[in-house]
Amino acid sequence: MDRLYIFDTTLRDGEQVPGCQLNTVEKIQVAKQLELLGVDVIEAGFPISSPGDYNSVIEISKAVTWPTICALTRAVEKDIDVAVEALRFAKHKRIHTGIGTSDPHIKYKFNSTREEIIERAVAAVKYARRFVDDVEFYAEDAGRTENEYLARVVEAVIKAGATVVNIPDTTGYCLPAEYGAKIKYLAEHVDGIDRAIISTHCHNDLGMATANTMSGVINGARQVEVTINGIGERAGNTSLEEVAMILKCHKHLGIETNINTTKIYPTSRMVSSLMNMPVQPNKAIVGKNAFAHSSGIHQDGVLKNVQTYEIIDPHDVGIDDNSIVLTARSGRAALKNRLAVLGVKLDSDKLDKVYEDFLRLADKKKDMNDDDILVLAGVDRTANHRIKMDYLQVTSGVGVKPVASLGLNIAGEHFEACACGNGPVDAAIKALKKIVNRQMTLREFTIQAISRGSDDMGKVHMQVEYDNQVYYGFGANTDIIAASVEAYIDCINKFK
Ligand code: KIV
Ligand code: ZN
Repeated sequence: MDRLYIFDTTLRDGEQVPGCQLNTVEKIQVAKQLELLGVDVIEAGFPISSPGDYNSVIEISKAVTWPTICALTRAVEKDIDVAVEALRFAKHKRIHTGIGTSDPHIKYKFNSTREEIIERAVAAVKYARRFVDDVEFYAEDAGRTENEYLARVVEAVIKAGATVVNIPDTTGYCLPAEYGAKIKYLAEHVDGIDRAIISTHCHNDLGMATANTMSGVINGARQVEVTINGIGERAGNTSLEEVAMILKCHKHLGIETNINTTKIYPTSRMVSSLMNMPVQPNKAIVGKNAFAHSSGIHQDGVLKNVQTYEIIDPHDVGIDDNSIVLTARSGRAALKNRLAVLGVKLDSDKLDKVYEDFLRLADKKKDMNDDDILVLAGVDRTANHRIKMDYLQVTSGVGVKPVASLGLNIAGEHFEACACGNGPVDAAIKALKKIVNRQMTLREFTIQAISRGSDDMGKVHMQVEYDNQVYYGFGANTDIIAASVEAYIDCINKFK
């Protein structure tokens, strides 16, 4: 098997997405998760671009041991000096320097000539090599750079000491065959190419980032630059999870990575939640529907043998076994199977009754999830919880200050507290925090009605951060304030 190096740029190219910026603590959290996932290189930032990026590179260098930490620069000495300083604590360090090589970049960005660009590229690589042994060169907009000229640039930078040569399709323009042919051309025409690793870096403007990356790999690239969930500038970058699973599914390619694929889904959730960037439901590998079979025929096939409609075992990417989406078209057997997965066994009469209710609700509601099923089955999710709600009373209205009084049962002991708040939920949560006195922060809070009537159940999903970890909680109640407190308590019950 040939080894393919995974270069993750979630914290640099991915983090350039407007509104997705992370603070240093959050970046460290992601970097540690990337280390667990098994990436080879973490591009931690562009140190000269901001004090935030500079500090993040320093802190990530301290927090992470195994992967190489990479810092981006332009082909400018000052950028390289700052990157060297930011990387001073990294156990394994790399400088990623480069310059635009396509005619539009040379003419409009640099008002320069092809020969001068080669000189600047060589000077930058030589300068970076004075400080670190591992220097990656990027030929920005290589996708639209003529192959013959690109080969001259790549040959010159390898001679100057580049250890990795990155061939970005910066604008996401190339066709897979064209991008693959470009990599093949370099592999065959550059003198000294065996002294460097060729890297792909593909953007997804035409939806071809993963296809282009794979075409590059098949034609000789041995590093891929990717992001979690494919986030990145404009339409994003190549998704790490897609490349890792393609190679796992197509072993005949003879190429392997160091990725522990069972960490893919938790990493995807972490990045999505920290960056407030939802993953599209039909996103390959990590989307909510990626393993969800909803038609009756598919469900029947999957229940008989998963190989009928599944090419990936969801467990391989860290997803629990909940691949059947229950809809109004699902049979009684599918409901029984889901209840069994959730640990609920019902006798035949009770199952008939739950199935009737299920069909009624599924008719009104397209997307039935595990929480809905548990509520319909009348399961008390809190039966084994350490903390339970004894009572909740809330006074609120127009022109009065909301007040909540709350009673909790904690491991058999009763506690009470009262609090005012900006709204009834705020008052109830403040009362809860008076009893459970820990440093907790509410990160996400969503309320949904199970169906659409005003007399129906409300569902609350919450994320609470405690001790640098995010916990997910759920509550369902006809009283939306009680559902919110239940969801918060659900989070607390999961604290380690
Ligand atoms: O897309 C691109 O060209 C880049 C380079 C800076 C590597 O992100
Ligand atoms: Zn990029």
